[in-house]
Amino acid sequence: MWAQLSHGGRQAPRYVTGRPVAPSAVQLDLLGNYATPRALTEAEILDLVERFAHAARVVREAGFTGVQVHGAHGYLVSSFLSPVTNRRTDAWGGSLENRARFLLECVRAVRREVGRDFPVAVKLNSDDFRKGGFSHEECLQVVQWLNAESIDLLEVSGGTYEQPRLIGFEGRASDAVPVRTSTRVREAYFLDYAASIRRVATMPLMVTGGFRSRTGMETALGVDGPGDCDVIGLARPLCWQPDFPRRLLAREVERIDDLDACLRLSERGWLSPRSRWLPAKALNAFAAQSWYYCQLFRLADGRPVDRDCRPLVALREYVVSELRAAGATRRIYPRR
Ligand SMILES: Cc1cc2nc3c(=O)[nH]c(=O)nc-3n(C[C@H](O)[C@H](O)[C@H](O)COP(=O)(O)O)c2cc1C
Repeated sequence: MWAQLSHGGRQAPRYVTGRPVAPSAVQLDLLGNYATPRALTEAEILDLVERFAHAARVVREAGFTGVQVHGAHGYLVSSFLSPVTNRRTDAWGGSLENRARFLLECVRAVRREVGRDFPVAVKLNSDDFRKGGFSHEECLQVVQWLNAESIDLLEVSGGTYEQPRLIGFEGRASDAVPVRTSTRVREAYFLDYAASIRRVATMPLMVTGGFRSRTGMETALGVDGPGDCDVIGLARPLCWQPDFPRRLLAREVERIDDLDACLRLSERGWLSPRSRWLPAKALNAFAAQSWYYCQLFRLADGRPVDRDCRPLVALREYVVSELRAAGATRRIYPRR
């Protein structure tokens, strides 16, 4: 059981904080849900590095068996890597070496704090899929720098809130870098990228995103031939069938349904995910995400999964629960 450490950065929604922090003051323009972030000072950056290290120590003391630094999906660490969101001109921005400094410093500090015998992983974007963002070529260079750190596992993902390819969704078309055609036809959409990362990486590689079948997973792992990764990551399947890996390993099942095509607010009209209106596409993606969260809430409460729950109902339930959590946070930390 490894814990993931992340800082929301510019992707922290308004109901969490009206004063997000980021490498630079570049706002996330999505449904008006994100305030303009304030650029961190160097002292604050150094403090955050230590906070990652402290959190890693707490993780170890709490009994987790490993820790992961979240350097993907556009959150704080990932936003340092991207030239679109990191416009700094000091030692933390500009060249790739400078943009990668925050990630590498966090990894070093975490390792220092947890000791040599505790697994440390990094989650990294294979590509931001955003024009001018963190590119695949840059990812390959960062992986080579990570080779020199003591990393036990590298998890490959991709995209940000602007281009959330991690859930197979495309954001604003004018911002988008298309995924490779060969990737589109594969079940796990970052596998092609993992293959080139594997050529330069010295640590074990994990790929998350899209795996639904035994065949897809075995091919990726190279059970009957050359594979592209060492570990499979599953997310959405576990939200509604947490025993899916056990059933797969026991050969009781061969695959799990991909539910996303059914989790739509509407099939037709302005709320259809095929609508060219970006907020409609975003709302649909958010509703599907909420559906998975609601199943997790149900499981946590000891209730069975509700496969028939409507995405609109899930969306409302999720927003209410987030607002409640944000209210509780504000009561505990009134200055935020
Ligand atoms: C409800 C939900 C919550 C998620 N939370 C996280 C998270 O906290 N950290 C993370 O790295 N990815 C998170 N993800 C993204 C998944 O790790 C994964 O990249 C994505 O869902 C694609 O994998 P899948 O096709 O197996 O679902 C989340 C996904 C879902 C659906």
